Amino acid sequence: MKQPTESQSYSFRPIRTIVAAGIMLTITAIMASTFGTTHKRIEKRAKTNAAPINRDSVESVKAFASVYKVLMSPRCMNCHPSGDVPLQGDDSHLHTMGPKRGVEGKGLYAMKCANCHQPTNTPGVHTPPGNPNWHLPPATMKMVFQGRTPHQLAKQLIDPKQNGNKTKEQLLEHAHDGLVLGGWNPGEGRTLPPLSHAEFTKAWTTWIKKGAYAPKP
Ligand code: HEC
Ligand code: HEC
Repeated sequence: MKQPTESQSYSFRPIRTIVAAGIMLTITAIMASTFGTTHKRIEKRAKTNAAPINRDSVESVKAFASVYKVLMSPRCMNCHPSGDVPLQGDDSHLHTMGPKRGVEGKGLYAMKCANCHQPTNTPGVHTPPGNPNWHLPPATMKMVFQGRTPHQLAKQLIDPKQNGNKTKEQLLEHAHDGLVLGGWNPGEGRTLPPLSHAEFTKAWTTWIKKGAYAPKP
């Protein structure tokens, strides 16, 4: 039987090389595309993790304008003063007889808030509004609203070092806090905050869920 000559067997080699190269290329292409998609998938997941909230700076900042109006209204600001004495009245004057914040925000010595502020509103005008938990934020975290610009207040509210270590979820819940709700039941002769509680909650939620953006300074 005739064996294939050197040259004959050689002539198959380029074809084999081309086929082999083709296979290699295909494998490389498959690997590259698989890696590409996995990579994209990881990237996508990372993005979703970083931003579970739908960020929309325009809507967020717009909602904060409404939130700010409420926070700066006397019903809220009177308990969030820049000094250590609470404020009173629709003109936010210093509290008569000057009760002081104290370490826990509950007053000092004989001037404890709860001495005069009962669990419920005292009937009549110029009487103390009531709440079982009536006090100022503590000395270690004063949560000042008075004098803050919208930019400063928005930044402060979401800073755990300044907001009582609150997460965004806890901030959302705070709209239903007893002292916050009390703003809409302030006792006789006091104006209500400029939005209803439902409108406030809606603006507060929108502000936070859309990314808690601060208005420009
Ligand atoms: C009787 C005093 C008092 C009144 C009135 C009051 N607050 Fe507060 N507020 C507090 C105290 C005390 C804290 C701190 C308690 C805490 O962190 O849970 C606080 C905390 C807060 C916080 C969290 C602070 C932050 O930086 O995120 C917000 C928001 C807030 N109040 C909003 C309001 C709003 C809105 C109103 C009016 C509708 C209001 N407060 C009325 C006493 C008051
Ligand atoms: C000696 C009694 C007394 C003590 C102590 C006292 N208050 Fe008052 N507080 C009043 C009275 C009375 C009013 C109502 C004044 C008015 O309407 O003219 C009032 C009103 C307020 C208001 C205004 C509420 C609003 O919506 O405008 C705030 C805020 C307040 N007190 C916070 C405090 C805090 C915080 C403490 C403790 C650090 C405290 N008070 C201690 C008697 C007291």
